[in-house]
Amino acid sequence: MKVTIFGTGYVGLVTGACLAEMGNHVVCVDIDENKVGRLRRGEIPIFEPGLEPIVRRNYANGQLEFTTDAALAVAHAQIIFIAVGTPPDEDGSADLQYVLSVARSVGRHLDRYAVIVNKSTVPVGTADRVREAVAAELAARGVEIEFDVASNPEFLKEGDAVEDCLRPDRIVIGTSSARAIALLRKLYAPFNRNHDRTVVMDVRSAELTKYAANAMLATKISFMNEIANIAERVGADVELVRQGIGSDPRIGYHFIYPGAGYGGSCFPKDVQALERTARAVGYSARLLGAVEAVNHDQKMKLFDFILSYFNGNVRGRTIALWGLAFKPNTDDMREASSRRLMEALWDAGANVRAFDPEAREEVHRLYGDRGDLVLCDSAYQALDGADALAIITEWKAFRSPDFARIRAVLKEPAIFDGRNIYEPAVVEEAGLAYYGIGRGRSV
Ligand code: UGA
Repeated sequence: MKVTIFGTGYVGLVTGACLAEMGNHVVCVDIDENKVGRLRRGEIPIFEPGLEPIVRRNYANGQLEFTTDAALAVAHAQIIFIAVGTPPDEDGSADLQYVLSVARSVGRHLDRYAVIVNKSTVPVGTADRVREAVAAELAARGVEIEFDVASNPEFLKEGDAVEDCLRPDRIVIGTSSARAIALLRKLYAPFNRNHDRTVVMDVRSAELTKYAANAMLATKISFMNEIANIAERVGADVELVRQGIGSDPRIGYHFIYPGAGYGGSCFPKDVQALERTARAVGYSARLLGAVEAVNHDQKMKLFDFILSYFNGNVRGRTIALWGLAFKPNTDDMREASSRRLMEALWDAGANVRAFDPEAREEVHRLYGDRGDLVLCDSAYQALDGADALAIITEWKAFRSPDFARIRAVLKEPAIFDGRNIYEPAVVEEAGLAYYGIGRGRSV
C-alpha cells in the first residue's frame, strides 16, 4: 500500500521504516531539509537499536523515501499519518501547532479520498480539530473531497521501538468510518497474522487510550517509589516487597521497579497533559497530580542521599555518575533524572565526572563545555579523582563491576544506586557504603 508519514522523529521514522519493511511504499516528509538530507545518506538522527539497517535497506530498494515536498507526499498515498511532535505548552497541555499545520498542508494538496491518521500523542478532541483544519483548506480551494480522520496511537518504547512496532501487542484504530477501518485493517494485516491484535473504537476513546496507558504505567512507577520511601523508613527492603506483590498476576512484575524517577519524552509530558485535559473539562485529576509530584521529588532522591552522606556540604566534591540517558539503550536525555541530579550537584558546588555509553554527545549539546562537568570515555575513567559513585541509568555494562577496584579508587567509599542494580550486602562486603532506593537507608 502507499503510505505517507509527516514527521521523521521517533514515531514517524520507526513507523515509516517498519511499514516499508512490511512491503509498503512509504514516503516520509519533514520540513527540516538538513534532516531529510541526512536520512537520504543513511544517517539516522536518533540512536535506536535495529533501526539503521531497515532504513538503509528500504531506502536503497525504493520502498522508503524522504522528502520535504508536502504536495508530492500528499499526492502519494491514501493513508496519511501525522507523526509530528506535540511538545508541552507553558501550562503543560500539548501544543498542537505542528499537528494542525500538517493538517492544513494536507488540506491544501488533497486531490482524492484519503484517511488522515493521528499517530502523535494528541489530546482527546484533536481529530475533530484536524478535520476542521483540513475542511477549511478544502473550502478555501472551493473543492469537495471526501476524507476521514482516524486515531492510531503508537505504543513503542525507546530502545525497543523497532521490535514494538513490528510486533505490537495491540493496534488501536479509532474511527467510525467503515472505509477508513477497512484501509487501516488492510495496512496492518501483516502484523496480525497469528491472531488479530486490532481494537477498533471511536476516535475519542482511541485518543484517551494512549494517555490512559502511559498514565497507568507512570502511576505504577510512582506508586512503587512511594512504597520505597515508606520501606526505607520502616526498615523494609522494597525489592523484596516488589517480588512479593509482582507475583500476584493482577499486579504483575512490569513497571514496578522503584528508582530515581521516570523520565523521557512521554510519561512526564503525557501525565501532565492528561491532567490539563481533565481540568479543562472541570475535573480535578488528583491521582495524576500525585503521580507527577512523587516523581518530581524522586528525581532528587540521589542528591538528598549524597548531601546527607557528606553532612550537608558537597562543595568541591566530585561525584562520578554512571549513566545519563533517561533509560538504557537510548541517547535520549529528555526529562532524564540525571539532569536534575547534575544540576543540583552543580548548584551545591560539586563537580561531576560522567560516563554514558550513548548520551555523551547529547549531554554536550545540552550543557556545552563547563568546568564542573567532565564527560569520560569509560565507566572506570569516571571514577578517577571522584569522591563517590552514583548510578542513574541501568545500562547492562554497569551490572557487575569490580567493587574492589571501585573501593580502591573512590576517595569516599560510597555507592548511590538510583536503579537498585546491586545487592546491598555484596557492595558492603567490598567495603563500600550502599544507598539504594527503598533499601534500608533513609535520608
Ligand atoms: C513509554 C511507554 O512505555 C511506551 O509504551 C509508550 O509508547 C511511550 O512511552 C510513548 O508514549 O511514546 P518510553 O518513554 O520509551 O516508553 O520508556 P519506558 O521504558 O516506558 O521508561 C520510561 C521511564 O520510566 C524511564 O525513565 C524508566 O527508567 C522509568 N521506569 C520504568 C521506572 O522507573 N520503573 C519501571 O518499573 C519502569
